Amino acid sequence: MTQTSLLPQQSALVSHPTVAESQPFKRIREPRLDFRGTRASTGVHGLHPYPAMLHFAVVRELIDDYSQEGAAVLDPFVGSGVTAVECLIHNRIYAGFDINPLAVLISRVRTTPIDAQHIEKALSAVISRYEHASASPVEFHNIHYWFHDDVIQKLSNLREAIAAIEDASLRDFFQVAFSETVRRVSRTRFNEFKLLRKKNDEENLNVVKTFRDIALKNEGMLARFYRDDPPGARRFLLEERDITGGIPVDDGSVDLVVTSPPYGDSKTTVAYGQFSRLSLRWLGLGR
Ligand SMILES: C[S@@+](CC[C@H](N)C(=O)[O-])C[C@H]1O[C@@H](n2cnc3c(N)ncnc32)[C@H](O)[C@@H]1O
Repeated sequence: MTQTSLLPQQSALVSHPTVAESQPFKRIREPRLDFRGTRASTGVHGLHPYPAMLHFAVVRELIDDYSQEGAAVLDPFVGSGVTAVECLIHNRIYAGFDINPLAVLISRVRTTPIDAQHIEKALSAVISRYEHASASPVEFHNIHYWFHDDVIQKLSNLREAIAAIEDASLRDFFQVAFSETVRRVSRTRFNEFKLLRKKNDEENLNVVKTFRDIALKNEGMLARFYRDDPPGARRFLLEERDITGGIPVDDGSVDLVVTSPPYGDSKTTVAYGQFSRLSLRWLGLGR
């Protein structure tokens, strides 16, 4: 595939639009696209939290209204993979890119079927390896600010037990459960996407129970998804990539783009980097 830059030339970026030019669209309320009563994290879309998720029901309508079965859909800002999941359900070819390795990992797990029995067998093996592990404690900048020492040792043992899984899809599955566990047992406020420390944080958390509960919850979500909406063939390209360097798709090969780009700065709006930082450090992903 050739590298095709969809970004405007630098010279095009310096013009200053008038107010009228910068607001060329009239806002209309479309009741058909109002899904306030349905949670965006329904079903497999709830596997691992992610900031600023698109609502799957809106994506579903857009794919349905503007493309046919077998059409090629592009999402240059994959995030948690909502468009990817909907393309899988609705039999579309899909290409998605995201700069954040955690986003790519979550999206891959949401869109990869795994046998529940294999998950349970691997979970028992991970827990047994964890119980006998004495890994060197993981170190990174400010780790002791965000985690109690006993939690650092438990997470280090768990990380080592997961790394020993040979099957790549199973390892990805447990890494996603591990990432959510990291958020749960850290001293950060779980419901915030920015990194903020809790005022009164608990000690002696049961790390392995938290991990086991999350893994079983995720197993149930995947099992129900692949049972209730059995998708067709997975015709996918899902890649970690900074798309400011260009999007590697051929000219004319995309029928529809369904995406939600990053917006604002980390002071005033969603901080994808802050949200993912601790998970990425623990997983050894990214810079
Ligand atoms: C609004 S979120 C996408 C959410 C997604 N639609 C969903 O439903 O979960 C924007 C995404 O853009 C990604 N992103 C930011 N800058 C990027 C870049 N230069 N190249 C690729 N992805 C980027 C962020 O990592 C983030 O996952």
